[in-house]
Parts: sequence; structure tokens; C-alpha cells
Amino acid sequence: MQVTPTSNSVSAVTDTRDRHPDHSLDLTRLEIDYLLNPVEANQAELEAAQDVVNGLRQPQKTLPPRYFYDDRGSELFEQICNLPEYYLTRSETAIFNTCAEAIAQITGACELVELGSGSATKTRILLNAYQAQGHPLRYLPIDVSAGILESSARDLLADYPSLTVQGLVSTYQLALERLVPAQLPTRMICFIGSTLGNLDPHACDRFFSQITRALQPGEYFLLGVDLQKPKEVLEAAYNDNQGVTAEFNLNMLRHLNRRFDGNFDLTQFEHWSVYNESQHQIEMRLRSLTAQQVELRALDLQVEFRPGETILSEISRKFDLDVLQHDLKTRGLVPIQSWTDPNHWFGVLLCQLPLKDAA
Ligand code: AVI
Repeated sequence: MQVTPTSNSVSAVTDTRDRHPDHSLDLTRLEIDYLLNPVEANQAELEAAQDVVNGLRQPQKTLPPRYFYDDRGSELFEQICNLPEYYLTRSETAIFNTCAEAIAQITGACELVELGSGSATKTRILLNAYQAQGHPLRYLPIDVSAGILESSARDLLADYPSLTVQGLVSTYQLALERLVPAQLPTRMICFIGSTLGNLDPHACDRFFSQITRALQPGEYFLLGVDLQKPKEVLEAAYNDNQGVTAEFNLNMLRHLNRRFDGNFDLTQFEHWSVYNESQHQIEMRLRSLTAQQVELRALDLQVEFRPGETILSEISRKFDLDVLQHDLKTRGLVPIQSWTDPNHWFGVLLCQLPLKDAA
């Protein structure tokens, strides 16, 4: 498959590789738009690099979680989702299996916009429900990875003959600012997989404002979040026995070495993940095993580490469903219905931007 950007950052897709046995796959049902033009992409890269410099110069060193996701990191994350200790993916999938029909009934014919669509596995449960109710299927996946977006879109098109896909290769922020008008009677923006938990409270506030601005009155917002639960369950999920999460965490340093010509020695750091009960968040860190100096030559940056000093690589917040519903409501996103699994470990929330006369 070849994706050819046109002058105005809209792309036409031509098939040059026979990746699917389905020769009848109709590519007129697929459009992929690049919202980041080369100048914007370059700017975003510079800002991300600056975040690394700023983060490593803080008294509590931090790194942006986006550096988890090179190819190896994405592969490791897929493995994490299938680990026995990592209940999140299984719980959310089980919830979708019970609530998808109700969601399709509430919204009626509705196009699905998915932020961070990835492999779109859970999205299929929603698409099945809309299909079973005879609704037209339209899907707008948004992801920064063109490769994942293209391959999952093609898999979906092969399996859903009436589906049209308009993918956006973009950051969430830009995509939300530039969403094209809905082609079906309503639209639902989906942010599932507990990714909201990786945003700190300020970023979360900004994100909710972006969602409110991106929706038209009457449109929907679907959110999947991890809920508060005993510390032991949480710490096991982020310190699995097979060491996959540890490898995922350390891989960030390998990624930085490659990207910024660095010399992090992965044998001199360890994965360290604990639940901060007062903040209701898992804090994942990389802990230096020794006094050492690390250099990222492309950023002209030298960093000193004391023995035991940590880099905060991720927070993963755990929510109280009632508090979250209240917060969403105060931001104009009115909760319509929520669902949890039998353990109450994970929550799915359907919200709506009220119609003007109902506000
Ligand atoms: C992507 N995100 C929702 C995952 C989480 O659980 O916060 C990332 C992750 N980090 C370690 N394990 C999984």
C-alpha cells in the first residue's frame, strides 16, 4: 500500500501490495488525511525534544510517555494488554460486550471518531452493534502512527463491507481542532483504553475543553477509564511477573538513545512502579542503580544521576466514577449512562453535549 500526500495534506490511497486475500476490497471506502504538514510535524518534533530537555532538568526528572511508543514499545504494549495481571483491557472489553448494544440504541446512526485508535480491536464490538441495528457505519480513526492506522483501517474495511473509513494521521489536539463536519446524523468521539489516566489534571482539563469545542450540540463522548481499587491489584498490573512492563519502561531509554544519539546504559536503570494512594495514581519510574552521567548528544544535554534517583516516566490515574461524572458535567459533558464490570474495576461512560434548548 502506498499513501501519497497531495498538496493540501489530503491523501489518496493506492494499492501496490497484496496484503489482503480479499481482492474485492473497495478502496473508495478509505481516505487517509495527514493533518500534520511537514512544517507542523517538524514543529511538533522540536517541541517534543524540548520536553525531554525540560523534563530531565527538573529536580524530579520526568520524560514524556509518548517516547514509550516506538515500534518495539508498541509491540510490548500489545503484550501488556494480554498479561494476566493487566486486567484493564480484559475488563473494558467485557464491558463493551455488554453495553455496545445499548450505546448504539441511545445514539442511533452515528459516526465513530476514535482518538488513539491503534489496532481498533474494541471498536469492532461497537461496529458490530451498529451493524446489527442496521445503522450505516462510518469510522474516523485518529492516530499519530500512519502505519497502524492504515493497516487497522484496511482490516476493518475487509470485515465490514458497508463501512467507510476516514483516517486522520494527527495528534489528538490538532484533529479535534480540525474535524470535518459529521456525515451521519450524529457523532461520538471515543477515548477508550484508560488513556485519560495518563494525563495530569491540568492536561485532563484542557482535553475536556477540546472535546467540548469539537462536539456539536447533541453529539456524544465515550470514555473508558480505570477505577480506584486495592493497591495490590494495581501494583501487580504494573509490575508483572514476566517483566514485560519493566521492558516497556526501559525501552523508552533505548528509544531516546536512538532518537537523540544518547548513551543511557539500560543495565544501570531499573523499572520501579508504585501506587500513590493519596494521588490515586500509579507512578512508573526508571531508577538509576548508580551515580552516572548520561548524554543525549543530539540535544546537547548532559544529565547527572545520583544512586537511586528516578525519572518519572508515566502516571496512570485511577478514577472515582461519581467524581469523574461530576467533573465532566461541570465541563458541559453530561453523563447519560455508565457501565462497569462485576468487580467495578473499570468504567465506561457515555456523555452528551446537550442540545442548546436543553442546556
Ligand atoms: C496506555 N495506558 C493507558 C497504559 C496505562 O495503563 O496507563 C500504559 C501502560 N503503562 C504501563 N502499562 C501500561
